[in-house]
Amino acid sequence: MKADVVLGLQWGDEGKGKIVDVLTPNYDVITRFQGGPNAGHSLEFNEIKHVLHSIPSGIFHANQINIIGNGVVIDPVIFKKETTSIYKLGVPLQNKLQISRKAHLILPSHRILDAASEAAKGLTKIGSTLKGIGPTYMDKTGRNGLRVGDILQSDFKEKYNHLKQKHIALLRMYNFSYNIEEQEKEWFEGIDEIRKYTIIDSEYEVNHLLSDGKRVLAEGAQGTMLDIDFGSYPFVTSSNTISAGACTGLGIAPSRIGEVFGVFKAYCTRVGSGPFPTELDDETGNTLREKGHEYGATTGRPRRCGWLDMVALRYSILINGVTQLIMTKADVLSDFDIIKICTGYKVQGRIMEQIPYDLQEVDSPEYVEMKGWKRDVSEITEKSDIPSELIRYIEFVEKETGIPVTIVSLGPDRRQIIFR
Ligand code: GDP
Ligand code: IMO
Ligand code: MG
Repeated sequence: MKADVVLGLQWGDEGKGKIVDVLTPNYDVITRFQGGPNAGHSLEFNEIKHVLHSIPSGIFHANQINIIGNGVVIDPVIFKKETTSIYKLGVPLQNKLQISRKAHLILPSHRILDAASEAAKGLTKIGSTLKGIGPTYMDKTGRNGLRVGDILQSDFKEKYNHLKQKHIALLRMYNFSYNIEEQEKEWFEGIDEIRKYTIIDSEYEVNHLLSDGKRVLAEGAQGTMLDIDFGSYPFVTSSNTISAGACTGLGIAPSRIGEVFGVFKAYCTRVGSGPFPTELDDETGNTLREKGHEYGATTGRPRRCGWLDMVALRYSILINGVTQLIMTKADVLSDFDIIKICTGYKVQGRIMEQIPYDLQEVDSPEYVEMKGWKRDVSEITEKSDIPSELIRYIEFVEKETGIPVTIVSLGPDRRQIIFR
């Protein structure tokens, strides 16, 4: 068998959590492969909304194994909060969740370094979620990191102290006040929580599962425009959010990747700093934010909103090898007479259809206008009931990208989904 991948094609928050939850019944195993608690993946059923940060979005289904892969970074404090709230819902988490030995740990001092680095950047800050993601991946590639497997070794405390001292030395560079000790008790309690789960060599496990004919779904975090290599650098996250990240973040070969489901919102949002060509700094942007409840699932920050950007979407499809598109949140556009779609960027008087080296060079987006459908679509359950204007909107995306939109999500709930 091959592993299928669900990932975001924009700047994150495309609705990946909901889509993974909807697709989970078709799979035996759900895995996260990169990112960490900077992610906030929402899913909704029985009138309750759940937000997951480190745990895969298949966790609420009865029969699936959920694996946190080697490419993920784990904050034990956030992990414990998450497991505690999931236990309260009666989910037998210990039987269903496995963690890679090679996943890296976010230390309290990583979080502090993240905050100190952002404070030092002032106006040029990334707008990080301040979860310690950047410093943890820096220690991973700098070959200094602590991994889940280390917590089972007798010298774990020494390794921890060694890395902490290194961070304290680094923090001297910054004029930043902090207190590591007050966070350490909770952190070590989180480590004890991690110890309760099956710690695995996920590369062997996932490959064996595939060889045994099990269906594996890999759940991406963030989005392609936040990818460390291909996103709007430096305003990006610190991991490969693209389909290739599923290979390195799980230990599976490219030839073992099957479907790549690219999730995109019917418009665009971005949270944090950095260029955003179709951003609407006006009443329309506010309407999208309020109607779409565009506030961060992890930080609560208001998300910046704008029209759908086909230049970015085509680029993301290319980089990821997307085989099927999934469109979310078209219901949010229901009140608009006219909906715009960006098909090119004006840069120094010329129209570009590719992403420029520096997205900040874009002077203005080039738009086409589409007629809105002007009707509530959130209750639609049959594809034959989709208004013709919305079908035209979907077909425009398919024509521009050459990829079919096979699933349309029209609300946050599990049931609000249409397979085309
Ligand atoms: P993720 O990070 O990609 O999993 O996305 P988030 O959970 O951060 O943000 C998506 C938000 O939109 C969440 O509040 C979801 O409950 C909600 N959502 C997902 N799909 C839809 C949809 O089709 N329509 C509407 N109105 N909301 C949706
Ligand atoms: P999900 O998985 C949206 C953004 C931050 C910031 C930049 C770097 O829910 O889609 P980091 O904390 O990684 O150093 O922040 O990336 N960011 C996200 N934006 N959704 C996310 O995850 C994000 N994870 C990080 O806002 O601009
Ligand atoms: Mg999110």
